[in-house]
Amino acid sequence: MLQNKKILLGVSGGIAVYKACDLTSKLVQQGADVRVMMTESATKFVSPLTFQALSRNDVYIDTFDEKDPRKIAHIDVADWAEIAIIAPATANIISKLSYGIADDMLTTTLLATRADVYIAPAMNVHMYAHPAVMENMKKLDKWGHHFIEPGAGYLACGYVGKGRLEEPLSIIEAVKNHQKNAQLLSGKKILISAGPTREVVDPVRFFSNRSTGRMGFAFAEAAASFGAEVTLVAGPVELDVHHPNIKRIDVVSAQDMYDAMWKEFASADIVIKSAAVADYRPKATYDEKMKKQPGEYVVEMERTQDILQSLGDGKKSQFLVGFAAETSNILEYGQKKLKNKHLDAIVINDVSAEGAGFGHDTNIVTYINKQLNKEELPLASKRNIAEQILTLIQRDMKDERQ
Ligand code: CTP
Repeated sequence: MLQNKKILLGVSGGIAVYKACDLTSKLVQQGADVRVMMTESATKFVSPLTFQALSRNDVYIDTFDEKDPRKIAHIDVADWAEIAIIAPATANIISKLSYGIADDMLTTTLLATRADVYIAPAMNVHMYAHPAVMENMKKLDKWGHHFIEPGAGYLACGYVGKGRLEEPLSIIEAVKNHQKNAQLLSGKKILISAGPTREVVDPVRFFSNRSTGRMGFAFAEAAASFGAEVTLVAGPVELDVHHPNIKRIDVVSAQDMYDAMWKEFASADIVIKSAAVADYRPKATYDEKMKKQPGEYVVEMERTQDILQSLGDGKKSQFLVGFAAETSNILEYGQKKLKNKHLDAIVINDVSAEGAGFGHDTNIVTYINKQLNKEELPLASKRNIAEQILTLIQRDMKDERQ
């Protein structure tokens, strides 16, 4: 799988640089074309000559050491690379990358590349757990960089804990698995709805719900990283998304979401309706702020359109996935929605369970397809749940074609 792959190996300065030598050798043995780029501090641990001999390519260190006058080396390497692996990645390089700092050849090249970037951190256990490093890693993860978690064990600084560079073979396995997944949904158009809707009463008041949109956004990011072209219809949420394959359409009310979903529906292959759409909206709305009156105030509500139901009734070849947020009889209610709304699959979550539902970074769900095969997905990050569900959707679409 790595045969002839153009891999940029970024080596930053930590004791684990010695493992990067082995990683270079193993990548070359698997047929990859490896170019190594070192930071100044990395060269204090291992001589560039070692990497040159192992990769059989020049090693890059200094941005201004231009070997070929016809090219600008950092842009040339940035464009050349299909995969970039930073191993070991120190706290310093992780933090610099998360701020877009480009003050040496490696950081400059990484800023310029469109390659898939894999980061294998290695540092002291307390540095790894520091909120600044954690925050910066989260930021990079959001931007689509892939982390290869450090292992736990004896660290060169004398501590035992998390921070040890993952073993070279495990790094290669992680990259290969990810590259395989990166093709999983290539050529597929996925339409996702996320977040709550907001049903306005007057210019300062509205009805809404506790959805934060995190599950839907996790779907969008996971689908894009699997190679899909994503359209994300988002209700009012406080989330950002950055991926060239994600087109975001912001909406406010259930009616706006209905219109946006139908506009995009015809060209979609897969539709995932994770939004928490309001079932009711105020019958009367006011352009001016309502003044309080003595006594009770009764708001008369009318039904919104059930978007998922309408898509299920009108669908052609789309693979339609709904959500069911339940607090009791979850499987029974979920299966009913699967059938009544003509879905291809449903994702049921018990929003009352610890670690599941609104506002959490994690979820616990059950995926049920049309054949009523059940897959229980235990507590995991929403991103991980999204990846597992997309893999199941891909499996079920393939089965349907056969
Ligand atoms: N849904 C929708 N339009 C609505 C209401 C819900 O598209 N007006 C979709 C949601 O996006 C979700 C699914 O329907 O994919 C189930 O939503 P949920 O709130 O769990 O159930 P409801 O269908 O509203 O049923 P009930 O309120 O009876 O549980």
